[in-house]
Amino acid sequence: MPTGRTVVITGANSGIGRAAALKFAEAGDQVVIACRNLDKGRKVQQEIASETGGNDPALMQVDMSSFESIRRFCSEFGQHYSKLDVLINNAGHFSHGAGEYQLSADKVELTFATNVFGPYLLTKLLRPFLAQSDDSRVLNASSTNIKHFFEPTRVIPFDSLTGVMRNGERYDSYRMYGDSKMALWMMTIRMAQELMEDHIKVNAVMISAFKMSKESVRKLRPYWRMLASLQNLFIPSPEIMGHQYFAICSREEFGATTGQLFNKDLVVTIPGAKNASPALQVKQLFSSNYYPSYADDEELVAKVWNLCGKITGA
Ligand SMILES: NC(=O)c1ccc[n+]([C@@H]2O[C@H](COP(=O)([O-])OP(=O)(O)OC[C@H]3O[C@@H](n4cnc5c(N)ncnc54)[C@H](OP(=O)(O)O)[C@@H]3O)[C@@H](O)[C@H]2O)c1
Repeated sequence: MPTGRTVVITGANSGIGRAAALKFAEAGDQVVIACRNLDKGRKVQQEIASETGGNDPALMQVDMSSFESIRRFCSEFGQHYSKLDVLINNAGHFSHGAGEYQLSADKVELTFATNVFGPYLLTKLLRPFLAQSDDSRVLNASSTNIKHFFEPTRVIPFDSLTGVMRNGERYDSYRMYGDSKMALWMMTIRMAQELMEDHIKVNAVMISAFKMSKESVRKLRPYWRMLASLQNLFIPSPEIMGHQYFAICSREEFGATTGQLFNKDLVVTIPGAKNASPALQVKQLFSSNYYPSYADDEELVAKVWNLCGKITGA
């Protein structure tokens, strides 16, 4: 039974994004699989059409690391749709173990281009369509990796995002990934405030370890590949997280929630206390109910936000 909702999910050709696409399609939503590789997307499009008995998802190409590609995607979206109900910025770049600093087509560090600036630009450009929905929800895929910001010296490397590592520091792709997921959460906080006047809800989810697809594991460097393969034996399947995406973006109880960071169990997390006792520090670090208070620093949130605007020109 069609719901009349239109749902865009980036990176829906694989893992959690694919699982979420299937869940939304099963519920009768019109899903748009937004992925960079149309061959991969076409395969998933056919699988979902067959698994849902005919609720065919649409397929559109977008490279989330390229501003030109995102602009083209949004312009094409506007040729087919007049409103958007759910946008899930799920696509993520992670190249754990990669030693080289990589730049996007726009000469921005590739992890930040894909995980922060891309979602910022996409959401901004799709805002007019989201504003047409009675219940529009945006969800950004962050990570428990941001827990590293409980370490007091950890900071986002603002000076290292547009060409070189600052002060000749060594590039660490794992660290850059965590930095980008923290920046994404901080961008979410401000985006929620900005989009409130159009009644668009914007949240993030702090995803813990879920099974990675064979293809994603294969792309990792040897040490990380071994770690991910081992971890895959013990951790839950992406379907569980896909269902949580659906719950956050569909349940009535979350209809007014905005500017929040969910954990994988759908609990709205809270910032850890700054001067916590050692016992509380340990609790904050290991409990999935807390995020580092670094994210709530208003000056830093403004810095992330302004950088997004400056770099994307939106
Ligand atoms: N699985 C976990 O344990 C875990 C934990 C914390 C956070 N997360 C986050 O959850 C999200 C989904 O991850 P997953 O586990 O489902 O991984 P996955 O199976 O590897 O999916 C990642 C998706 O992102 C797409 N992507 C990457 N760069 C892109 C780009 N420039 N443009 C468009 N699409 C791009 C990939 O496309 P290709 O197939 O073309 O590469 C793929 O579809 C990511 O944001 C990830 O950071 C996952």
